[in-house]
Amino acid sequence: MTPWDNPGAAAQFDLARWSAGHLARVEDALSRWVTADAPAGQAHGAPAELVRAMRYAVLDGGKRLRPLLVLAACEAVSGHAEAALRAACATELIHAYSLVHDDMPCMDNDILRRGKPTVHVQFGEASALLAGDALQALAFELLTPDGDVVPVQIQARMCRLLARAAGSSGMAGGQAIDLASVGSALSEAQLRDMHERKTGALLQGSVLMGAACGQSGPGPGQLRALAAYGAAIGLAFQVVDDILDVTADSATLGKTAGKDALADKPTYVSVLGLAQSQAYAQQLLAEACAALDSAEFDHAAALRALAHMVVDRSN
Ligand code: IPE
Ligand code: IPE
Ligand code: MG
Ligand code: MG
Ligand code: MG
Repeated sequence: MTPWDNPGAAAQFDLARWSAGHLARVEDALSRWVTADAPAGQAHGAPAELVRAMRYAVLDGGKRLRPLLVLAACEAVSGHAEAALRAACATELIHAYSLVHDDMPCMDNDILRRGKPTVHVQFGEASALLAGDALQALAFELLTPDGDVVPVQIQARMCRLLARAAGSSGMAGGQAIDLASVGSALSEAQLRDMHERKTGALLQGSVLMGAACGQSGPGPGQLRALAAYGAAIGLAFQVVDDILDVTADSATLGKTAGKDALADKPTYVSVLGLAQSQAYAQQLLAEACAALDSAEFDHAAALRALAHMVVDRSN
């Protein structure tokens, strides 16, 4: 139990200070790992233009929420630091790839992302497609280093968690439902299912990957609590994304505001209305905090503060 671990402590916890060091390490690691250098034992590295598109997609932008969730969950169970850094970068690579593809003309057809032109606008569609593919592959390469820097059981668990979160029953499946739902009036249950998959799965997966860094694994009570926490903030994140699409401007978001209504996408705002969506995000925040309270953790203050950040953010 730390001084932060009591009800109401989130307000006292300095998230910016906690995040600063972690963000610097993640940024540095991403820059080192998304590179044209040849892997050890291979004569040739990657084509320079492809790597330029990959680096453009990943570096210098984004809130890095998924890496922070991995690192906070690892901290909650006093887990393996090298495994956590690799998992943190792997989740961000999958996320970056999902954004590159999400923005393409065949999906949301967006021209602005993280305050700059989208990858297909900058590099062309074929390069954007391939950069996304390569980022996905690199994520799994990072999780499986040579030697014994990360115990092999942890490597295997992480690969499975990330694959499940990103694949056809998770993010990619949710994106398929999203595209098939344009112009449809979804029920609240259908909307929730779509959002849990397209966005919630990777956020919950980030929490579970952090937990999987625990040397003896998280206990069953901790695992249940973290899974419930991850599910709540994962859904809350997309509820807030839907809200911000209506309430924020493009300069603040770094992406085009107002796109959902224009594209006739079913969102929490279109289904529940703005006020009820905001209330629902608060309810999910309370659920996330209650989940953390349901088990004993070494340090849960960062997870708690990140839950508040997910719901109270302005971009
Ligand atoms: C945007 O994610 C896409 C969704 C899953 C809603 P983020 O809001 O986390 O995007 P970045 O990483 O900060 O740019
Ligand atoms: C995207 O959802 C979810 C992903 C898996 C990328 P959105 O399409 O709402 O994300 P934004 O608003 O473009 O960032
Ligand atoms: Mg989309
Ligand atoms: Mg989009
Ligand atoms: Mg959106």
